[in-house]
Amino acid sequence: MSQLDAAVDALEGRLEAPLGRRRGPRGEGPFKGKKVVGEVFDRVTVHAIHSMIREGTLAGVNGAVSAGKESVVFWASGSRGEDIALKVYLVATAGFRRRAAYMEGDPRFGRVRGGTRPMVHAWAQKEFKNLWRARSRGVRVPRPVAVSKNVLAMEFVGEGGVPARTLSAVRAGRAEYEGAMAILEALWRDAALVHGDLSGYNLFLAAGGVMAFDLGSAVDTRHPRAIEFLKRDIGNVTGHFVRHGLEVENPADVLARVTR
Ligand SMILES: Nc1ncnc2c1ncn2[C@@H]1O[C@H](COP(=O)(O)OP(=O)(O)OP(=O)(O)O)[C@@H](O)[C@H]1O
Ligand SMILES: [Mg+2]
Repeated sequence: MSQLDAAVDALEGRLEAPLGRRRGPRGEGPFKGKKVVGEVFDRVTVHAIHSMIREGTLAGVNGAVSAGKESVVFWASGSRGEDIALKVYLVATAGFRRRAAYMEGDPRFGRVRGGTRPMVHAWAQKEFKNLWRARSRGVRVPRPVAVSKNVLAMEFVGEGGVPARTLSAVRAGRAEYEGAMAILEALWRDAALVHGDLSGYNLFLAAGGVMAFDLGSAVDTRHPRAIEFLKRDIGNVTGHFVRHGLEVENPADVLARVTR
């Protein structure tokens, strides 16, 4: 059994023995103190997921779909049986230090103090807010559902617990290029956001066309490095399609057009 499967089992165990009705002395069982459960979940994380279940946001967690260095994504079910993607940012990663540059300078957020955990929590809140703002301005991103601590629940993009393929995994053509560029432009113009980590790995080829995701790094266009990030996003996306043999617009022209 993988660590992730073990974590899912542990979560399901929580369902049968909610925190308040646990038998035995406090701290007993698989959730001792802040110890990481099965190397994946610590107590705070389990608690956050559990409160989403108690509040009716989630009916249950079905399985893991992706395990990255900084997050684990689960396929979960909502109260009406709809598919939910549960993104759990890992607290036990040091990689969050470099993320300060994407928080400070964004007028919506201040300096985050107190180490890794507050930073990771702030990052999850930030991704939720970015998704919310983008989505409410009509940009194609997953619909955010809820956020608590380091856990973000959103619309599941895909079918039957299998995520949609990303552009990095398909033979992308003209329609995908135009879809990706339209998202980049709509993010800037309509949502006043720059993705900050846009590439073929963070663009789904969803049922209705291209959709951007992984918006934790997205910053407000007033961020002092917004143009720099936008330039990089344009470069990454353009490079992706050039490698696929497409004729593309000059990145400098795209930048001028988007920010005009
Ligand atoms: N809303 C979603 N619906 C379905 N699957 C999703 C969703 N969000 C993320 N995933 C799956 O999880 C993977 C990783 O998600 P994401 O890019 O947001 O996390 P990450 O921490 O940046 O991980 P990585 O380092 O692998 O990029 C995606 O490639 C996709 O397979
Ligand atoms: Mg990603």
